[in-house]
Amino acid sequence: MNPVKVGLLGLGTVGGGTATVLKRNAQEITRRAGRGIKIDFIATLEPERAAELGVEDIRLTNDAYEVVNDPDIDIVVELIGGYSPAKELVLQALENGKHVITANKALIATQGAEIFAKAQQKGVMVAFEAAVAGGIPIIKALREGLAANKIEWVAGIINGTGNFILTEMRDKGRDFADVLKEAQALGYAEADPTFDVEGIDAAHKLSILSSIAFGIPLQFDKTYTEGISSITPEDVIYASELGYNIKHLGVARRTDEGIEQRVHPTLIPKRRLIANVDGVMNAVLVMGDAVGPTLYYGAGAGDEATASAVIADIIDVVRMLTTDPENRVPHLAFQPNELSDIPVLGMEAVETAYYLRMSAKNQAGVLAEVTRILGEGDISIEAFIQKEPKRDEQQVDIILLTHRVNEGDMNKAIKQIEALDVISGAVARIRVESLN
Ligand code: HSE
Repeated sequence: MNPVKVGLLGLGTVGGGTATVLKRNAQEITRRAGRGIKIDFIATLEPERAAELGVEDIRLTNDAYEVVNDPDIDIVVELIGGYSPAKELVLQALENGKHVITANKALIATQGAEIFAKAQQKGVMVAFEAAVAGGIPIIKALREGLAANKIEWVAGIINGTGNFILTEMRDKGRDFADVLKEAQALGYAEADPTFDVEGIDAAHKLSILSSIAFGIPLQFDKTYTEGISSITPEDVIYASELGYNIKHLGVARRTDEGIEQRVHPTLIPKRRLIANVDGVMNAVLVMGDAVGPTLYYGAGAGDEATASAVIADIIDVVRMLTTDPENRVPHLAFQPNELSDIPVLGMEAVETAYYLRMSAKNQAGVLAEVTRILGEGDISIEAFIQKEPKRDEQQVDIILLTHRVNEGDMNKAIKQIEALDVISGAVARIRVESLN
């Protein structure tokens, strides 16, 4: 049988990894897919990369439309990232009856509905395993392996760059900007690194996971998004003293009122496996009603790790080329006409525990004032630390851990605490998840 012909859009970190692994493991991959898989056409603005990667014998162009419009190409692999022209290229490829594989989480999270509708109309597949958690097959696990379960919640460290930065800051006391530069050099960071640092990349990925877990439409715009840029070295130390590690976590949880969909720095008890996921590694913890908790761990970014997911998708598509479109695994795990309109909750309706850090005057009665406000708000304190005043300073850091409370009530309490004369500056707040 003739090999399946792949058109590759982009020869950057992931594109390069895909070309390298497809070439190196060609034999194993053919044995699995039942047919050879051949990259036949590459669109890149850096033709010298082809020689670097040893794929200079493959047709090259600097016009990606030549690839998506080439009648010889069966599968288009979009690895250029970003919203545009990725969206136009993907839609054009689908229009031309080609299957599409993409690692583009921004595109799937924000334009997925339109892309999947087009794919369905044309009877072709869109696969996007590499869009979430790099090399970890979490989409496959949720969509297929856990298909028997009612998923209760998903919690994941799903941005490698952010996790790498937090880990290096904690372990080596390194400077934020310096670690970010290294992540960029290693090809982990997004083209716009604020996507990593401000949680946008994680929010893209979480909205995909949430949709697949609960059978709801993709709703990136409703994802509460907070990054890691406000985490201080003191918070990392204080959290550790209390028995927690700080991780940037995405949480999607089914509640009676709706779906919580949020990414933010989070204190996680050190005894949880996921609290010990360091560096560029990602992990996703999924709670299913039948299976209980399951944990998926692996490299969340990087050339060959992400290529592993891209190529698995290519193999999947090749295996399913002859299946009836109605009998394929639905893009979002649930049949398209079975998506539910259960609402995504606003953050004020979410309930979590909190870590609070405030700078207070070192004088009698301060704590009483703070605890009075919390008590009046029915917010129960779980742990408390007061630090020694720093040399020559009249201020002390007070750190509180609370029990679970509604975010709206916590916001009110924080406002009142910040208004106290004895408290200076803003109260730092980090959410706490026990994940049990
Ligand atoms: N910038 C992303 C990360 C790449 O650091 O996780 C993988 O999606």
